[in-house]
Parts: sequence; C-alpha cells; structure tokens
Amino acid sequence: MVRFPDLAFDAALSEFAEDVVAGLSAQPRTLPCKYFYDARGSDLFEAITDLPEYYPTRTEIGILHDRARDICAQLAPGSALIEYGSGSSIKTEILLVAGDFAAYAPIDISPSAVDGAARRLRRRFPDLHIEPVVADFIGDFSLPASLDGLPRAGFFPGSTIGNFAPADARALLRRMARQLGPGAKLIIGVDLRKSPDILIPAYDDAQGVTAAFNKNLLVRLRDELGAEIDVDGFRHRAVWNARDSRIEMHLEATCPQTIRVAGHDVAFEAGETIHTENSCKYGIADFEEIARAAGWRALETFVDAGNLFSVRVLEAQ
Ligand code: TRP
Repeated sequence: MVRFPDLAFDAALSEFAEDVVAGLSAQPRTLPCKYFYDARGSDLFEAITDLPEYYPTRTEIGILHDRARDICAQLAPGSALIEYGSGSSIKTEILLVAGDFAAYAPIDISPSAVDGAARRLRRRFPDLHIEPVVADFIGDFSLPASLDGLPRAGFFPGSTIGNFAPADARALLRRMARQLGPGAKLIIGVDLRKSPDILIPAYDDAQGVTAAFNKNLLVRLRDELGAEIDVDGFRHRAVWNARDSRIEMHLEATCPQTIRVAGHDVAFEAGETIHTENSCKYGIADFEEIARAAGWRALETFVDAGNLFSVRVLEAQ
C-alpha cells in the first residue's frame, strides 16, 4: 500500500478510530492498551510508579541496586545492552554503572523519550556507544548494524511481560531469542503472584492516579476522535482474576449509556465494562516454564526480601 506523507496524521487517527471501534464492538469490550501512553498518559504512568501502593517500580529498582554486580556477572564483558521499551532509561543506568558494556540500544516508540535518555546517558557515559531505535518493540524492527559482532544482553524491566497474555508473552520472548541470537542473555523484571490485598491497591490507589490513567483512554476518544462520551459515567476498576493469575483493569459504566464514536453507537448497561489491560502475575516456576518454551534457559533469579518481585537472567538456547 502506498502511504503519502501528508496523509500520515490522518492515517494514524483513522487507525486509532478503527482500533477503538473494533475493540468496543467486541465481547467482552476492550480498548488496546497501547493508547494509554500519550503525553498525559505517560505523565500519569510516571506518577503511578511513585505511588506508595505501587510496589513494582521501587522494588525492582531495589533489586537492581542491590544485585547489579551479580546480574552483570552473568553477562559477557563488552556486551551490547538492548532495552525493549526503554522510556526514560532510569533503571538502565544502574546496570551501566555496574557492568562492562560496549554499546546501549534503547528501543522505544516515543522519539522524545529515547532522544532525551540518549542525551543524558551520553553525558554520563561518554565512552559508551549509544544508538537509539525508535520502534514499537512488539512489531518487526532491526537492531542497529553497529551492534554486529558484540555479545548481546536484552533488558526488559517493569514486568511489562505481564501485560501480555501467556501465549503472547511466549511469542514475544521467542522473537527476542531469535533477534538477540543463541548465547544472548535477557535481564527481565517479572512481578510475582501475591495476595490481592497487596495487588488491588497497587492498581487502584487512594489518590486515584491509576483511575485517571485508565480513564485517559476515554478522554482521548473524546478529544482526539470527537467521540460523544460521558467520561464521568465510567469508573476505574481493578479486579483480581485468580484463575488466570492476573489483575484486570476495567472501565465500568456506572449507569446505562451510549458512546458514539466514528459513526458507531456502542450501548452500555449499568455495570458493563471495557476491559483495558491485564497484568499477569507469575510464580517463580510458572515463569521459568514460559521462558523455557520460548527458547530461554534460566540462569539466575533475584527476588527482594519481601518476595514481591523478581529480576531474572535468562540465556537464549
Ligand atoms: N507494566 C505495568 C504493570 O502491569 C503497567 C501498569 C501499571 C498499568 N499500572 C497500570 C497498566 C494501570 C494499566 C493500568 O504493573
């Protein structure tokens, strides 16, 4: 298909509209989670990572701090560090300080995020070759040719892997194994299964930041697609699904209502929800099984004292 540059903006908008209509027409109703992260959504997510209830970020950073040398000891000296969904690259700095790396390739869909991070890191690590890649790591993209010949270490923190259903997580890990190649390592953050008493508040905080983050999807429908929608007619819900070992994020209609978007009417009964995100939680052995099925062997697992979160080092077979 030929795409004209001056149509790029409209094409992005119509893809957004198509995705929204498809998601809202499905049963159960969904909205694709990739639309969480516009500028406001990214700011709200930053705020989530600072919340007292949201333990994953600070626990993972604690593990990386305490065990950085042990983690890096698993990697080949002079490795290229390749980060999937690098954002602000804050956690990466902990590894770059502790290990011996020849190159760093941050991969992120947001050009401003990778550019800002690259500028900061070039100042702090003047000898490190930094080559940002602007890409959606879920799709197909090539690693920079300048990394050819270097041993490879992938970095995938934040338990983002938990936002994929197990079959999709396996497929993504398999693609990473293929892309990084045999013998490559992967440092991956995986949140652990635990009591809903800890999980639910982490995804439904007292200040309502996570609620605002979830509802930002509806704000985007209204502001960018011109949808007729009563944003306040929906409330944020975080539900623990024990069978599938996941926290589910929903937007629940508080009264009967209709969203009109892109020429479609989507009617909701009171209590009906839009399922917006999953965050799967794994036992130590459960995740190892998925990793093994995707071509990765577990080398080491690092867990905090409270058994909340794990950082694993895997090796591609
Ligand atoms: N990877 C994060 C997690 O699963 C993403 C996340 C945190 C999230 N809070 C959220 C996604 C709220 C949607 C809604 O912990």
